[in-house]
Formats: sequence, structure tokens, C-alpha cells
Amino acid sequence: MNMKETERKTTVIRADESSFAEAARALRDGELVAFPTETVYGLGANALDPDAVRSIFKAKGRPQDNPLIVHVASVEDADKYAVTSPLFYEIARAFMPGPITVILPRREVIPDVVTAGLDSVGVRCPENETARRLIALAGVPVAAPSANTSGRPSPTTAEHVYDDLCGKIPYIIDGGASEFGLESTVVKLENDGITVFRPGAVTADALRCITENVRLAPALTEGLKAGETPVSPGMKYRHYAPAAPLALLSGERERILAFFREKIASEPCAILCYDEDVPLLSGGMLLPIGGRDDISAQAHAIFARLREADKLGVSALYGYLPAKEGLALALYNRLIRAAEHTVISV
Ligand code: TXA
Ligand code: MG
Repeated sequence: MNMKETERKTTVIRADESSFAEAARALRDGELVAFPTETVYGLGANALDPDAVRSIFKAKGRPQDNPLIVHVASVEDADKYAVTSPLFYEIARAFMPGPITVILPRREVIPDVVTAGLDSVGVRCPENETARRLIALAGVPVAAPSANTSGRPSPTTAEHVYDDLCGKIPYIIDGGASEFGLESTVVKLENDGITVFRPGAVTADALRCITENVRLAPALTEGLKAGETPVSPGMKYRHYAPAAPLALLSGERERILAFFREKIASEPCAILCYDEDVPLLSGGMLLPIGGRDDISAQAHAIFARLREADKLGVSALYGYLPAKEGLALALYNRLIRAAEHTVISV
């Protein structure tokens, strides 16, 4: 294999630099560009260029059967790539641009490699201005998964992207930390209703302002059953897996704190704790994720803390089992998968 194919220079640029236009041109012309969004960083390719899209799978080590989302600079572009409907425009009016992806029947212009051969395509119009400016400047729809190596936590800073993809992609646009920190809500529109495939910042309750007919895909809270074909291919992959096994604690807070103290005393572990716990858990390797009742702060911090955990070289990781309601469901969904459904009740 020649050097050019395996290693290349990765340039990190800010949105206000003149090279931003160069990155947008490169994106249109088939190169990969990582960019900030309000959810997590994305790894973008021209969605109309099958070779460019293929290189996303290669750079991430992503399974070929996991479809990509198509990002547009404005809602008006959605109908060029997907068959829209009145329900889609109701969602768009309420939540776009914003952290939601809507799965719709695809149009022919979208290559098979984007949708992994499915007859549907996910469309997202991000709120982040740098993201929308990049897409508009490139002048093409942008296929983009999260800009991490497959199986690693999604990146919420340009440094995270650099850690995973340095030498594999030509450009990373640094827009600071992602505002929300968890990936977009993914929904599919079926039979006049909305099915949530992946919970995110746009909650099921928020969607109920549009129609009563909102349901959660059962796999979200129950996990996939043996042999079950997932409604969304991404559901079947082990995700956000920390190097050390993660267990999530459920029960009264005092009992959970006692459990943490016992583990700190007996094994080299790290604790994903609340900010308030720090003075109560002396001597332990602590990874505070935010205030106990501040779900937004926890969502913002969790992927960065999981990445830090990997660098500590501990043999176990413990944290709280999040609630399954509202915004906390998005956090629950990411953590329960990172923990491979390991829950300890105390
Ligand atoms: O917030 C986000 O959505 C970020 C930023 C970069 O926009 N992107 C992101 O993409 O998280 P990715 O590829 O990491 O996750 C997309 C998820 C996957 O689980 C995939 O299986 C699912 O959406 N998906 C995409 N297209 C689909 C389709 N046509 N049908 C069912 N599921 C689909
Ligand atoms: Mg991802």
C-alpha cells in the first residue's frame, strides 16, 4: 500500500478562516470534511458522489449496511432528495433547523451507498450555522455520520475528531464544543404517525405537540431480541463502548454512593458521578458528568467523559442508570448500550 493512501495531512481550520471556502470546495469535489453541528461532529462527503461516500465508511471503519443521514442547508432542499409529506413540513416548522433527522422515502438521485440499499433516507437540517454555511457553500447535500471511529463515543469537539481520524481525512473544521452533545433524534413517519428510532434533544413529548400518534421503537428501551431485524440498522451495533466494562447503578442514591465507595476502595475503577458527589467520594477516580438534575449538562459531557475514561487504564467503570423520561431517555439510550445492558440494582 502506498503512503498516500494510508496517511495524509489533516488540517484543522476555524470557520472564520479563509481556507473554509477551500474546505467547502474540497467537500463538493469528493473529499471528506469533518464539521461541527449542535449535536456532535459530523464526517461529511458529497452525498451525490458514491466514491466520496464510500470513503466515509473506510475512514470510520463503519459497517457497509449502516445507512448515512443526508444533511441539507435549508428545509426547502429536502424534497430534492426525499419524498416529503405534510407531516414532514409540520415537523420542519416546529424543529428545523435543529437536532432531528426524519426518515422519508428516498428519491433516485441519492446513491445506494448512502442508504445502504434501503428505500428510505434520513434528512437533517442542522441548526449550527457553520454546518449550514459549509453545506450551502459546497452546494451539494452532505452525507454525514458522526465523525468518530466506529464503536468509539461520538465526538463533541474537534480534538475528539482529530484523535480518531488524524491522517485519514484532509479537513476538520473546529467550531468549539457541540452545544447538545448527543446525536439527533431520528424519527420515521409511518401511517400518519411518528416512530422514534433514536431519542435525542427533540423529545417524544415535544413531538406530541404535532400529533398524539408518537411511539418509541420498542428496541429503544428493551434492547433487540435475539434474531430481531432492527428498524434502524444502527441499533444492532455495539456503540460507544468504553475500554473498561461499564455497569450502571439503580436504586437509592445513598446506597449507590455506598456501592461506589466500596468499589473505589477495592478495585482500580472510575466513577461517572454527579458534580455534587465529588466531595462525597474522596480518593476515587472521578469523572463528573454534571449536576444531578441537570440532564442537559450530562448530555453535553457524557461522550467526552467516556473518552477520558479510556485514557485512565482502569479495569471497571461505574455510573448512574439515567431515567427513561424526557431528555434523560437520550442519555439512557447511549449509556445502556455503552454498558451493554449491565445494570446493578442496590
Ligand atoms: O446528530 C446526528 O444525527 C449526527 C450529526 C453529524 O448530524 N449524525 C449521526 O449519524 O449521528 P450516524 O450515522 O452516526 O447515525 C445515524 C443513525 C444510524 O443509527 C443509522 O442506522 C440511522 O441513523 N439511519 C440512517 N438512515 C436510516 C434509514 N434510512 N432508516 C433507518 N435508520 C437510518
Ligand atoms: Mg454514529
